[in-house]
Amino acid sequence: MPRKTTISLIKCDVGSLAGHHIVPKPLLNIAEKNLKKAKEEGLINNYYVFNAGDDLELLMVHEKGESNPEIHELAFNTFQEAANKALALKLYGAGQDLLKTAFAGNICGMGPGVAEMEIQERGSDPIVVFAADKTSAGAFNFPLFRIFGDPMNTAGLVIDPNMAGGFKFEVMDTMHNTKVILKCPEEMYDLIALIGTVQRYVVSRVWRASDDLICATGSVTRLSLIAGKYVGKDDPVMIVRAQHGLPAVGEVLVPFMHSYLVEGWMRGSHWGPIMPVGLKNSECTAFDGPPRIVALGFQVSNGEIACDDDSKPMMADMFDDPVFALARREAVEYAAMLRRMGEFEPARLGPEEMEYTTLQQVLERLKERFKPA
Ligand code: F6R
Ligand code: MG
Ligand code: MG
Repeated sequence: MPRKTTISLIKCDVGSLAGHHIVPKPLLNIAEKNLKKAKEEGLINNYYVFNAGDDLELLMVHEKGESNPEIHELAFNTFQEAANKALALKLYGAGQDLLKTAFAGNICGMGPGVAEMEIQERGSDPIVVFAADKTSAGAFNFPLFRIFGDPMNTAGLVIDPNMAGGFKFEVMDTMHNTKVILKCPEEMYDLIALIGTVQRYVVSRVWRASDDLICATGSVTRLSLIAGKYVGKDDPVMIVRAQHGLPAVGEVLVPFMHSYLVEGWMRGSHWGPIMPVGLKNSECTAFDGPPRIVALGFQVSNGEIACDDDSKPMMADMFDDPVFALARREAVEYAAMLRRMGEFEPARLGPEEMEYTTLQQVLERLKERFKPA
């Protein structure tokens, strides 16, 4: 039987430095320590710890399959330990995303975001791992459609016969907890009809239609739907496989040459332009943003991540590149334009989304003062 390798990307806002800005070193160190130990004990084969703004990101490669209780518990315990450290240091928002504290075998639904993919390794398996801050899961709908559904983005859909059969998209209805699979190109219009509603429908998986090869998976957590109120944004993650009959890494990245609007900026209550950045700029500042996204490239290799001569995973910081300067510039310009509008829609989210925010308490105060007109 060919080897099966699992890539687990699990993230959590456990507390941050100077407001909701960045994960500080002592918390990254806890993750590093715990995952190193898990590697030494043979639970995972390799790992990479990083941050997307105020979110602590654990990338783990192992052979235990998806939704494995031991892997999820490792992530959960790591987040708890980091949250306790954040609490001790009085960092901001300590334990913010740990909505439930009694672990019962699976971290999904407890607050942290999860993207997992079990693959049968090909001759060579490049992956790109995305993590965004100050936005929600639907933020990946647009680029995922461009990558796997749009022949104007992905030349391979037109040129490579291995992609001619198109791709299948699994779409979650996060309001009703149901899912549907739609195939491109045949059902492209229906797919767009759904996933254009980014606040409700979220692309959770993509497969190559000709052989059901898994190509992409994203987190679908809606924190406000778990907690019933605003408790921070979902700040999604996704894993995308590339090359050799799949979109090339370049086709995976090219949608980010331009900024686009996502929900979740400041207090989870505003539209904001996504800004692709290298890890050195993975921090949120102006109006707690603008929403940032990092993209890290790896090679999955014999059950782990391909390492350098010092046994360190080799990582390519994909957005740390001048070619994304245009998108960053656009993001600054769109951000300035939206902020000029202040609290007027559409800069602020519509009323349905605002239901989960503290705006309700303000409106409640005014209720008595309304008289029949
Ligand atoms: C946190 C976030 C921030 C906060 C804002 C207010 O994920 O998106 O924009 O919502 O900084 O935070 P509090 O209410 O904690 O002062
Ligand atoms: Mg935070
Ligand atoms: Mg965050």
